[in-house]
Amino acid sequence: MIAERTKKVKPSPTLAVDSKAKELKAKGFDVVNFGVGEPDFDTPEHVKEAAIKAIRDGFTKYTPVGGIDELKEAIIDKLERDNGLKYGKENILVSCGAKHSLYNIAQALFGPGDEVMIPAPYWVSYPDQVLINDAQPVIVETYEEDNFMLQPEALESKITPKTKALILNSPSNPTGFIYSKKVLEKVAEIALKHNIYIISDEIYEKLIYDDEKHISIASLGEEIKEKTIVVNGLSKSHAMTGWRIGYAAGPVEIIKTMTKIQSQSTSNPTSIAQKAAVAALSGPQDCVEKMRQEFERRRNYLVEGLNSIGGISCKMPKGAFYAFPNISKVLGKKVSNNQINSSMDLSIYLLEQAKVALVPGSAFGAEGYIRISYATSMENLSKGIERIRKALEELK
Ligand SMILES: Cc1ncc(COP(=O)(O)O)c(C=O)c1O
Repeated sequence: MIAERTKKVKPSPTLAVDSKAKELKAKGFDVVNFGVGEPDFDTPEHVKEAAIKAIRDGFTKYTPVGGIDELKEAIIDKLERDNGLKYGKENILVSCGAKHSLYNIAQALFGPGDEVMIPAPYWVSYPDQVLINDAQPVIVETYEEDNFMLQPEALESKITPKTKALILNSPSNPTGFIYSKKVLEKVAEIALKHNIYIISDEIYEKLIYDDEKHISIASLGEEIKEKTIVVNGLSKSHAMTGWRIGYAAGPVEIIKTMTKIQSQSTSNPTSIAQKAAVAALSGPQDCVEKMRQEFERRRNYLVEGLNSIGGISCKMPKGAFYAFPNISKVLGKKVSNNQINSSMDLSIYLLEQAKVALVPGSAFGAEGYIRISYATSMENLSKGIERIRKALEELK
């Protein structure tokens, strides 16, 4: 009954953890939810006001499929201001979240016989979006000792005549690491040499700590810009996950094809949310900086707390809002008859015993790690750390 192609795809494991945590909460359990991938802050007031005004003004009808001109112009300004990228309206498509932008790209570019390179640890949706289009994900491992940085030699060794694209994500979900200019230059060189497209997911661009700097690979030169589709959105930067606005910027022919695909699926993103996105991109940005500072404070607290727990070691992430601690020393340990053999076993144990929800590293193609989101209050962080400490002390 069900189409064959859908059988290769699994439901998003991060959303599954989140709903399991919410289910336990609804049953009355006091769950600390470290599983979520969304800011716990409210959407800034001026953004909400713009949406309310749009409703009052009757801006509640279909819009052009690829987004209203006003929003495309705000995106063009943002890309020039923040990333040094010059685009025209024909290079922009607004979609229902960055996930939708990425899905449109996968539909426009990937097909049977194509290989798509994905550095691991990876965001959960990349391999599945490749698979549902009958293409083949090719995983390129990265390692903690390199700060999970893609090694150009490893990348080049995985290239075959079938390689169509590489999906980059910086700052990275789940590792929190950021690509340096040097690595990006090398990656760009390889991509150009082998005629490979780059999909650059920059959704965590605004959440960067210490003295790090975000660089879009598309800004490294005209040639690589022509091979790159930049993806970004408002979900993480402006606490707007529920509004569903993301966008892609890239070569005209690809954007045109993506727009055609979108015209046969969702049509335009919600009219009201588009007006809110204009306010978010064009209005004051101090709200973004305030949230960033609070994330940085939480990051410091969480990573110090995690490193004080026996069996856990955690590098300091440089961006996004996740810690990605190494839990390999815990594997093989037991409590009564329950042996913890994988990050999934540990996640289940922590959820059931300590009522702490988090995502196993295996969901991101990285066994031996867990992902902890610090998009939650300091109080929850403190409670969660102590619960993990106690639960791990039980393991022998
Ligand atoms: C790396 C990455 N890309 C894209 C997205 C999608 O964001 P949205 O669809 O909310 O814009 C997420 C959300 O968790 C993400 O972590």
